[in-house]
Amino acid sequence: MRALLQNLHRHLHALSGVELAEADWAPVPRRELGDVAIPCFKLAKALGKAPPQVAQELAQKLKEIIDAGQLPLAREVRAVGPYLNVFVAAEAYAREIGQSLARDPRRYGGSRKGDGKTVVIDFSSPNVAKEIGLHHIRSTALGNALANIAECHGYKAVRLNYLGDWGTTHGKLILGLKMYSDESKLEGGGLKEMLDIYVRFNRDEKENPKLSEDAKEAFRKLEEGDAESRRIWKLFRDISIREFKRLYDRLGIRFDHFDGESLYNDRMEPRIKEIQDKIGTRVSEGALVCDLPGHKIPVLLRKDDGASLYITRDLAAAEDRWERFHPDHYWYVVAVQQKLHFQQLFDILKILGKPYAANMEHVWFGMLAFGSKTMKTREGNVIILKDVLDEAKTRARAAIDAKNPGLARADEVAEMIGTGAVLFSDLSQHRTHDVSFDWDKALSFEGDTAPFAQYSHARCNSLLRKGEAHRATLTAAPDAAARSALFEEEPVRNLVTELGFYASYLERALADRDPSQVATSVLVVAKAMNHLYHKVRFLDEKQPARLEALLELTRLTRDTLAHGLDLLGIRAPEEM
Ligand code: ARG
Repeated sequence: MRALLQNLHRHLHALSGVELAEADWAPVPRRELGDVAIPCFKLAKALGKAPPQVAQELAQKLKEIIDAGQLPLAREVRAVGPYLNVFVAAEAYAREIGQSLARDPRRYGGSRKGDGKTVVIDFSSPNVAKEIGLHHIRSTALGNALANIAECHGYKAVRLNYLGDWGTTHGKLILGLKMYSDESKLEGGGLKEMLDIYVRFNRDEKENPKLSEDAKEAFRKLEEGDAESRRIWKLFRDISIREFKRLYDRLGIRFDHFDGESLYNDRMEPRIKEIQDKIGTRVSEGALVCDLPGHKIPVLLRKDDGASLYITRDLAAAEDRWERFHPDHYWYVVAVQQKLHFQQLFDILKILGKPYAANMEHVWFGMLAFGSKTMKTREGNVIILKDVLDEAKTRARAAIDAKNPGLARADEVAEMIGTGAVLFSDLSQHRTHDVSFDWDKALSFEGDTAPFAQYSHARCNSLLRKGEAHRATLTAAPDAAARSALFEEEPVRNLVTELGFYASYLERALADRDPSQVATSVLVVAKAMNHLYHKVRFLDEKQPARLEALLELTRLTRDTLAHGLDLLGIRAPEEM
């Protein structure tokens, strides 16, 4: 609706003197009442009148503007209570959407908001030496989708994976390798072997507290640059990254940089020095802390044994990103549990007067529940993402074999459906909500799911094939009036309207850093297409101009679904 809304807002501004915001619109619940609504509360307040009265007066004036041909994408405006309800001119609107898609298919639905700007997106960022758990799907899927959405709005997105590759854990792993395993087992067993070492160490540590001291000491040696420690640490890191990349490939996600906390081992002192100069630090029980204005709890900057901390490394990383990318935005796509960490980080950088401090955002997300369990990694009872993807693929394959046994490349399609289902299940739920994963819900072909959207996409393809063959048999002369009349039929106008909303949802997705807006749009478009498909029998159509219009809409729908799914990092099979 962006094209229409921008025009409407411009006219309303001229008529009332009040400037409306981009977000000042609402969908209309019932099509017979209109297609998009402008709430008049803000206008009424500024004009000192009641909202219904303002709606009445402005509806009258907008009618004149429409009659004068100055709002070509609107057909009618009605005052409905405190709202201005607008009916789109569906035929003109469909043409407008088709043109915008043809102009720049990649940026379809996007705005120019990010042109010339850079956003660094820190996402996925798993800890090395541990399997990527199902819960990682959140940061991974959200970060990737947000990067795609930012690019669609013109931003240059820097996809950055900030590996957790430093910390006392690595002391434990270095010791644990010697205690329970060896290098060739590590090469062979990869992350599974590493998790094993880690879990065993944690278990033994409970009985033997001296092991904790030993691990600290081992990490201290690593931080001091001991060559042998460094070599073993690197082994863990390299094997982990190798396995991570396999998973990211499978998900179709690429990173511009695999950084890691270890990168900042020798770059923290300048930051600590700055804090000492500008905020002040003190020693508390041997550790270096800083009392941050507005924070009750002091921030720990260096441990009593001299070891560095997560926040100190993030301070150094923020500066480094500034030097490397000069970003206009920093997005940290990290779980809500780290809220305090990021508040402290951003506040310190603000006090230090960093030019980028005001542009940093913790794009946090809620917890993921799998069935009834929430997930933890400590005790080793982690649900591994790869296993979930495998299971999803198996289930998708079973569904294909039941529904469409002759399907070509069934295995490839099963992978697209299974992985898509897992991604969509996550991305279709609001970023800030606690979300849940449920096998049957995620893989259903009828629910608000990837398989449903993918199926709608594939059905558009088959409809196009059959429709074009049918078109070749029609002999009547094309009738433009019949075509225009078609666009006034409810299922057609409904579909055009939902297609028109795609860009508006994409705008909200950017504004709220929330890919679920895109998922919502994909689903409403798929449902509108479904509705049209059941109401209008394409293959009984005798009038070529009508059939052509229907096929154009089918193409627009297919491309919109594919585009939306692609933004979410989900592939859409041609056929399924
Ligand atoms: N590795 C961390 C974790 O798994 C997430 C890192 C997030 N990014 C950051 N710059 N702190 O919890």
